[in-house]
Amino acid sequence: MIKVESLEFKYEDGTIALKNINIDLDKGRVVGVIGANGSGKSTLFLNILAILKPSKGVIKYNGEPIKYDKKSLREYRKEVTMVFQDPDKQLFYSKVYDDMAFVLRNLHFSEEEIEKRIHVILEKVKATDLEQKPTHFLSYGQKKRISIGGALIMDSKVLLLDEPTSGLDPKMSKEVKHIIKELSYEKKLVVSSHDMDFIYECCDYIYVISNGRVLGEGKPEEVFLKANILKEAGLDKPWLVKIHENLKLPLYRNEEDLLKIRY
Ligand SMILES: Nc1ncnc2c1ncn2[C@@H]1O[C@H](COP(=O)(O)OP(=O)(O)OP(=O)(O)O)[C@@H](O)[C@H]1O
Ligand SMILES: [Mg+2]
Repeated sequence: MIKVESLEFKYEDGTIALKNINIDLDKGRVVGVIGANGSGKSTLFLNILAILKPSKGVIKYNGEPIKYDKKSLREYRKEVTMVFQDPDKQLFYSKVYDDMAFVLRNLHFSEEEIEKRIHVILEKVKATDLEQKPTHFLSYGQKKRISIGGALIMDSKVLLLDEPTSGLDPKMSKEVKHIIKELSYEKKLVVSSHDMDFIYECCDYIYVISNGRVLGEGKPEEVFLKANILKEAGLDKPWLVKIHENLKLPLYRNEEDLLKIRY
């Protein structure tokens, strides 16, 4: 579906944020991208979304290099959408409803269809009560939820989620994780996060990024056992991996499996 080939990205100030990145999103249903602050995750996502254009290399969608003219981008962004790390970069319009309707109105959907879609999405992100609220009055966590909703409105085939749980309290974070799990049955997800427990549980393939390079890749149960890669990337291990290594328990993929077997 999406392949990143020999991608290099240089910002205007000369910072080379990505170097020779090769990524194949067909390798997993939910693909994780992990790396320390400043390693290049958001820059990678913005390149995949075609907001940034590679300095070298290509990004292919269904075998074809993506094109950057207006018409091609409009079509591409029906297929590939993103939840931005900072929800304020994503929310523009005064009321939640109008913010969500904006993209669809631009594509000349009928008001009836727009209303129907928005109600389904608000239900999905558990935010029906926020429909008429001005976006600037929302709490950070509510903004995060609405920005996930906004990215779902196109019903794209691929959804990029850049740090979807950062800054959320444990309850909200759990809810967002649940939403992501549900979405994983419907579309291809690419998730970046500093929460290794979350990545370990929700992803089936992982890329480890460090200093703009891919340092390692593989299934979560392989990647998280490679202590040297994690150390070099400045990342911690998920608690289930620590339990496995320190208490000599089997390597469980989630808390439920562990509790089922222990008690
Ligand atoms: N607009 C910009 N101009 C110049 N350099 C930038 C710009 N945006 C990001 N960078 C640099 O590019 C590198 C990668 O940044 P990026 O935001 O992609 O990292 P990240 O992995 O998403 O980090 P975080 O975990 O903090 O979100 C960093 O060195 C950063 O300083
Ligand atoms: Mg980032």
